[in-house]
Amino acid sequence: MPILLHIDSSARRHGSVSRELSAAFADAWRGKHPTGTVTYRDLAETRIPHVDEDSLSAGFVLPEQRTPAQRSSFGLNEQLVAELLSADEIVLGVPMYNFTVPSTFKAYVDRIVVPGLTLDVETGQGLVTGKRTTVVSARGGSYAPGTPREGYDFQEPWIRAALGLIGIDDVRFIHAEMTLANVNPKLAQFKHIADQSLSDAQSAVRDAHGVAVA
Ligand SMILES: Cc1cc2nc3c(=O)[nH]c(=O)nc-3n(C[C@H](O)[C@H](O)[C@H](O)COP(=O)(O)O)c2cc1C
Repeated sequence: MPILLHIDSSARRHGSVSRELSAAFADAWRGKHPTGTVTYRDLAETRIPHVDEDSLSAGFVLPEQRTPAQRSSFGLNEQLVAELLSADEIVLGVPMYNFTVPSTFKAYVDRIVVPGLTLDVETGQGLVTGKRTTVVSARGGSYAPGTPREGYDFQEPWIRAALGLIGIDDVRFIHAEMTLANVNPKLAQFKHIADQSLSDAQSAVRDAHGVAVA
């Protein structure tokens, strides 16, 4: 039975565009894989603790020689990596915060990019291969070519680099841009761009599986 790993990271539980899109993706995936399972992780609801000295040092010690604190902290890395490795496909709902990802998402990535678990220590090769990944992102502004903020997008390149390090290189991005135009009256003139971008993102999510999304 195929498994979809569905992760959300918006701090907003209501009105979140990235959550709306990732949920639509998961619904469409379920439609295509009726016998499949969706593993859901909400990084805003269940925060991943930052990496600490115990989790970092544990990787250099044989498992049987680890202290209880090392076992506990590194155990979380192992749990998250096992969850990741068991998935056949991944969808990540990621807003742009301060030109990059939310810190909750960064804390998660710091625990899945682990030499020995997801990276071959000798060769540096990523070990998480064959997992088609879709990132649905929401941004308040636009980073399209020709816009004033072109070049300020550190979200997509960072996610590509970090996931690529562990072998996840089949990554597609679906961006909903200018979302703040629907919230901030000063940006009302850009509402048509927001509406078009959201509509394009919804179509891309729908087309990702070739089945209708409600
Ligand atoms: C802490 C914070 C920082 C943000 N920084 C940016 C930013 O750098 N660039 C941008 O375009 N939008 C930024 N935004 C706006 C969000 O990207 C936008 O509201 C988006 O829709 C959030 O995703 P969500 O709808 O899934 O919650 C920021 C929002 C928050 C809360």
